[in-house]
Amino acid sequence: MIEKNMHQFLVEHPDMKYVFFGGKGGVGKTVMAGTAALWLARQGRRTLLASTNPVHSLTSLLDQDVFGAETPVAGVENLWACEIDTKDTIARSKREIREKIEWFLRFADIKAKADEFVESATMNPAFEESAMFENMIDLMFEDKYQAYVFDTAPTANARRLLGMSSVYSLWVTKMMKSREEAKSLRELLSYSKKKEKDPLMEYLLSFQERMKHAKELLTDEERTAFFFITLPEALPIAVIKRFIAWFEDFGIPVGGVIVNMVIGKETLGKDVPEFVLNRLKMQENYMEEIWDSFDGMVRALVPQFETEVRGIEMLERTAERLFT
Ligand SMILES: Nc1ncnc2c1ncn2[C@@H]1O[C@H](COP(=O)(O)OP(=O)(O)O)[C@@H](O)[C@H]1O
Ligand SMILES: [Mg+2]
Repeated sequence: MIEKNMHQFLVEHPDMKYVFFGGKGGVGKTVMAGTAALWLARQGRRTLLASTNPVHSLTSLLDQDVFGAETPVAGVENLWACEIDTKDTIARSKREIREKIEWFLRFADIKAKADEFVESATMNPAFEESAMFENMIDLMFEDKYQAYVFDTAPTANARRLLGMSSVYSLWVTKMMKSREEAKSLRELLSYSKKKEKDPLMEYLLSFQERMKHAKELLTDEERTAFFFITLPEALPIAVIKRFIAWFEDFGIPVGGVIVNMVIGKETLGKDVPEFVLNRLKMQENYMEEIWDSFDGMVRALVPQFETEVRGIEMLERTAERLFT
């Protein structure tokens, strides 16, 4: 039994502003993000549906090109969508890092080319993830919308992104300490007493400020909620169990669980093929596990539709099931 459905949850959290969906690949994260964004927009809230995932699918979901720019969704008032151009972000981050490194090499009187340092700092997946994370928080800080729905990257990445905000903060504190030490040493050694402006230090400080702010937003349960999507199947259930435990450890608010692609008994006619009956039986067993494991957290059961979910009309249909 659903104790608190999606609608009730949002009524109880009137300031909800940042909504995320997580789960195994293919369970319906993009579909539910689109559905929730549509619903929020229909409630009269200026809403942005954004994807930071390098593998974009909003353009296909909405049947409209939303790549690289915040684009009004045709026929839906209050709704904008955007697939963030990750290549662009990564290039920009690389440029910024290069400037910092070049400055630092000059400052420390090291006669080396920045290239090598830039490569080693940026040629890894964590760099791309952190660039996308920055993208996401930039959008959040801009505060142009009343609600943001993020179509998140697959599970493990998303968690790492969030975990990173704590790691960043530790790293920055360490960096600043050694920068302070280096600075006073330099001032001591220096004959001229003129104080130098330290762009690296300034950068680290503002970076730490941003991360602190991001963490505040992401751990505020009145404004942020992560919803986890599963199917009544073993693997997707195992994935979100792990995910929920991780998030609770990080103090990131879990909004609840959505069960997708549930086969409705009542939709089956006579002469149901054997394999469908078997699937139904399997789903019924896993539903028991879901009620047990996610006691009080299930917010919706969304049926398996006869077609894929694409276009506004199908999203409306999905919204009826997600929000009632
Ligand atoms: N309730 C549903 N009924 C029918 N098809 C669905 C349903 N939910 C999702 N789909 C379809 O399943 C596929 C995967 O959904 P998607 O949202 O892209 O998953 P994810 O983003 O988690 O990888 C898509 O083709 C989508 O249209
Ligand atoms: Mg997706």
